[in-house]
Amino acid sequence: MLRKSRTGSPYIPLTSARTVFFPGTDGGAQWGGSATDPDGIIYIPGKQNPCHSSLVKREQPAENGSVTGAQLYSLCCASCHGTDRRVNHDGSYPSLLAIDKRLSVDAVNQVLLHST
Ligand code: HEC
Repeated sequence: MLRKSRTGSPYIPLTSARTVFFPGTDGGAQWGGSATDPDGIIYIPGKQNPCHSSLVKREQPAENGSVTGAQLYSLCCASCHGTDRRVNHDGSYPSLLAIDKRLSVDAVNQVLLHST
């Protein structure tokens, strides 16, 4: 997956193709982890993380706001579970294919209710 990714410039624009860029969006003194001590000294972690990402076209709801199940999945689930429900690009989220063979409807509802 990494070998097939686009790369080569710190400011390479994201497209629908997998792209590695550095510095990434989680690098430098960005979100997460800064704190002050009682003397007022602020500590900011310096992170140097590359990113491996891409843009994904999402389905949009109809003008009247109604959505199909596929649109709802595209809007709310695909960013983690992948557009085809197989898994996301780096395997860090579980596949939802054949989820009905592994979990009951009640169990899936429990996952969704407890993940908000
Ligand atoms: C921000 C990322 C993210 C989003 C968005 C997301 N999920 Fe998940 N989902 C996860 C992670 C991480 C797990 C694994 C949790 C664990 O193992 O404890 C998971 C687990 C699940 C599971 C259980 C899978 C199994 O094999 O046990 C189901 C079902 C599920 N998600 C459905 C959905 C649905 C439906 C949506 C959209 C409404 C959704 N998820 C949106 C990250 C996400």
